[in-house]
Amino acid sequence: VSVERAVEEILGRCMSPILAQSVRRRAQRAIQVPEGALRLSDLPRLQGELAAGVRLFAEPNAQRQALDAVSALAKGSDEPASSPRPAEKIRVELAAEADVVQARSHARALAERLGGDAFAIQRVATAASELARNAVLYAGGGVIEFSPSRPPQRGVWILARDAGPGIGNLDHILSGKYKSRTGLGRGLLGVKRLARSFDVTTGSNGTRIEVEIAL
Ligand SMILES: Nc1ncnc2c1ncn2[C@@H]1O[C@H](COP(=O)(O)OP(=O)(O)OP(=O)(O)O)[C@@H](O)[C@H]1O
Ligand SMILES: [Mg+2]
Repeated sequence: VSVERAVEEILGRCMSPILAQSVRRRAQRAIQVPEGALRLSDLPRLQGELAAGVRLFAEPNAQRQALDAVSALAKGSDEPASSPRPAEKIRVELAAEADVVQARSHARALAERLGGDAFAIQRVATAASELARNAVLYAGGGVIEFSPSRPPQRGVWILARDAGPGIGNLDHILSGKYKSRTGLGRGLLGVKRLARSFDVTTGSNGTRIEVEIAL
């Protein structure tokens, strides 16, 4: 379920579905997040805006409950990976090219251990090394983590984080018009194409890329 639907579901416990949708939409517009792009990490900001709509439309005794439920949803915000995920999490610190090689081989080993076929293993290894190399080259280093996808999905989940300058022209890069350094169709767009899900948060404080590769 999208975060949008989850918020509406909560609001819907104390108002009609139509109102729940309009309260959610209005609040989301107020925090300037486009439709379809709401993330758990936006919820703390969204909450303040939702409160007005909840006060307007919900019964007084249901208001607190609805707002508390949104808070609970927001609590998961800094760890979307925290929903039951097998403990096996591998973390590689990225400072130099040698760490990219390490990241790639850990990723490959995990995909193998999870029973991926040769193509799937290759996809995981490629995504890992592209993200790790970008962090080293453009952000002065970072961290990459791998863990099994949350069952019943079969896959490898990858989180790459850095405190670099951010990716200024992300939309352009993902549009396909950007000519990557190697021009081999790898890079970020290549990773996106390999992935079941692909999520980038980037800004002047750094970049966070969360990817899931199906096995
Ligand atoms: N973690 C990052 N931090 C800052 N900028 C980044 C980061 N990752 C990518 N970029 C920027 O985005 C651009 C596109 O990255 P992408 O990986 O798609 O291509 P590339 O690295 O230029 O070429 P290739 O990956 O094919 O060698 C990079 O040139 C860089 O400017
Ligand atoms: Mg690259």
